[in-house]
Amino acid sequence: MNMEKKNIDWANLGFGYIQTDKRFVSNFKDGKWDDGIMTEDSQVVISECAGVLQYAQTIFEGLKAYTTEDGRVVCFRPDLNASRLADSARRLEMPVFPEDRFVDAVVETVKANIGYVPPYGSGATLYIRPYMFGSNPVIGVKPADEYQFRIFCTPVGPYFKGGAKPITIKVSDFDRAAPHGTGHIKAGLNYAMSLHAIVTAHKEGFDENMYLDAATRTKVEETGGANFLFVTKDGKIVTPKSDSILPSITRRSLMVVAKDILGLEVEEREVYFDEVKDFAECGLCGTAAVISPVGKIYDHGNEICFPSGMDSMGPVTKKLYDTLTGIQMGRIEGPEGWIKVIE
Ligand code: PLP
Ligand code: COI
Repeated sequence: MNMEKKNIDWANLGFGYIQTDKRFVSNFKDGKWDDGIMTEDSQVVISECAGVLQYAQTIFEGLKAYTTEDGRVVCFRPDLNASRLADSARRLEMPVFPEDRFVDAVVETVKANIGYVPPYGSGATLYIRPYMFGSNPVIGVKPADEYQFRIFCTPVGPYFKGGAKPITIKVSDFDRAAPHGTGHIKAGLNYAMSLHAIVTAHKEGFDENMYLDAATRTKVEETGGANFLFVTKDGKIVTPKSDSILPSITRRSLMVVAKDILGLEVEEREVYFDEVKDFAECGLCGTAAVISPVGKIYDHGNEICFPSGMDSMGPVTKKLYDTLTGIQMGRIEGPEGWIKVIE
């Protein structure tokens, strides 16, 4: 397909919503998914009593499409988004959207909006948002019987203003996820309960929250929208292990990049907050965040300032960033199966 690029100021995009031409919609009714359609209609019309509106029965995913150096359009490990959405669905008693159909629908949605995929080198990418919600009336607390699965996409710039500039975060007084709760899945409810915490952090001048484990408040979990990566003073990569954080695809990929491509030592383990002051570098990783360096952590009057400072990414974080984005943009060959070519 040869669709002209839209007239968008790619270099100055923030992380926001821009309506594109087409989106994918499939409905689940009478125990099965229909074939789905690509539609121009961006509006969702559902019952006033829909399960999603009453009891927040909704889950989502996030991934990106990139233009590579040689002009292809690709996305990164969409099969992992498919399986994570399936895990989220099972946890919220929702029907699974078949994983192979998920990947096909992502491809079709990007193809249908190819003019919105930012050009190579523009600093922007196409953010793809698959989601599913209970659509029929539910008034007693129970799962819906009918669901809608949709995928839209929107061109985006950096999640944090300033892109690769280090950010400042605070240790939150709120909890994100309970032990045995829903922190490990991508449910809308996890983000609803983080809104007061993020508004509070922003009012106080911080870019994000660091959540500690709810049970003991001694271990590092994640932020509202990204996992943590730390670099020790001797160059080892450490990432928190917890049953109540989202298994970030970016983080899992970076651990492979670190170990197999960069030859670094990697450790996924419980990370106590007390250890954080001894790390050399800290970053947030996720689809939206890519790798955003953290320069400073504020903890109730105390500050942890990483040696990498507030001006630029630390050297190890930078290597990880360059390698991961190099794979995503086709400059570096990644492990087999990581890149799904769209066209
Ligand atoms: N943690 C949370 C809470 C998130 O919302 C996200 C974003 O998807 C991530 C981590 C990063 O996950 P991924 O790398 O799969 O985008
Ligand atoms: C993502 O990185 O895809 C996220 O979902 C994080 C945030 C925008 C919720």
